[in-house]
Amino acid sequence: MKKLFEPARLGNLTLKNRLVRSATWEGLAQPDGGIKDETYTIYRELAEGGVGAIITGFTSVADNDHYFGGMMRLSRDDLIPQYRKLTELIHQAGCPVIAQLALGGFYRGNGLVEPDGMSVDEIQEVVGLFADAARRAKEAGFDGVQIHAAHFFFLSRFISPAVNHRTDGYGGSTEKRIRILLDILKAVRHAGPGLHLTAKVNSNDFTQGGLEELESLAVCKALAEAGIDSIEVSGNGTSVQGIRAGINEGYFAEFASGLAGQVDIPVIAVGGWRSVRCMESVLNDTGIAFLSLSRPLVREPDLPRKMQYGESTVSQCVSCNACYMTPSHRCIWLSVE
Ligand SMILES: Cc1cc2nc3c(=O)[nH]c(=O)nc-3n(C[C@H](O)[C@H](O)[C@H](O)COP(=O)(O)O)c2cc1C
Repeated sequence: MKKLFEPARLGNLTLKNRLVRSATWEGLAQPDGGIKDETYTIYRELAEGGVGAIITGFTSVADNDHYFGGMMRLSRDDLIPQYRKLTELIHQAGCPVIAQLALGGFYRGNGLVEPDGMSVDEIQEVVGLFADAARRAKEAGFDGVQIHAAHFFFLSRFISPAVNHRTDGYGGSTEKRIRILLDILKAVRHAGPGLHLTAKVNSNDFTQGGLEELESLAVCKALAEAGIDSIEVSGNGTSVQGIRAGINEGYFAEFASGLAGQVDIPVIAVGGWRSVRCMESVLNDTGIAFLSLSRPLVREPDLPRKMQYGESTVSQCVSCNACYMTPSHRCIWLSVE
């Protein structure tokens, strides 16, 4: 019998509870990836709010990745001290922190290049970017890294049959499309020994001709066989609106539960968790080991603490997605209260 608020092992990490902050891009970083003071405040509030572990927002591995604005970066060594300050303040609150390593898109100069147009050397360049970023993450004091292979950013597009039509060793079958992930996994493991290594993966691309559950299951199992330490299950269009506590929570739970029955590593399920009752029942009824939250922690960074001590049983988040539109992705309801 699993409990929401009990220490639990996430691979080599021990979390004080089974709640994880899912990556949430704040849009606050300087164009070069430098961290602003407001970001430190956001992460201090989260760490002190009692969550078991924090996954940072989208952190690009490339200097020239301008897929969207305000992304953090671990793309240069001179950024390491700013990220070390971030990990130190999170650790001071007794919370492990995982950097979400990501690539929005691959740019040749200023031009965006889709997977089909890339040379094998360019694919290896991407592998190297992830490995270098993992080394910097380790030097900056992160406890782990998450390979962002979801939500139709670069890696998610690369492994999707809807986008990748290559006919060489990096396309044409599931095994070949995910070869880039396995190359990255190996390179990151080598560059950042001891880091917890996780990936965020789409259970479904919800795109014509894209990944669907059966193939996603094969992708996740291949990652597990290749030695990844945990997997976070998501899907395109991840921030579903209109979630109501006790009614339609945990919209990727069915896939995550099926996956948990087939792999020996912890499965983290993201997407629409809002109440203690639903979270505890899914932990008990399935093999899912951790539940990750994004919007509820935008609304209430101290929600885990409030839930643990019985001050709250349900998130106040109304899943309106207005946080996507605000500067620094704060909750609009906070400013009207
Ligand atoms: C403002 C905002 C920014 C997000 N940024 C990221 C991100 O950087 N990386 C990522 O993998 N998911 C990101 N997400 C998606 C969340 O991690 C999560 O998968 C999704 O919102 C569903 O979980 P929830 O119902 O707990 O919000 C973001 C979501 C929001 C609302």
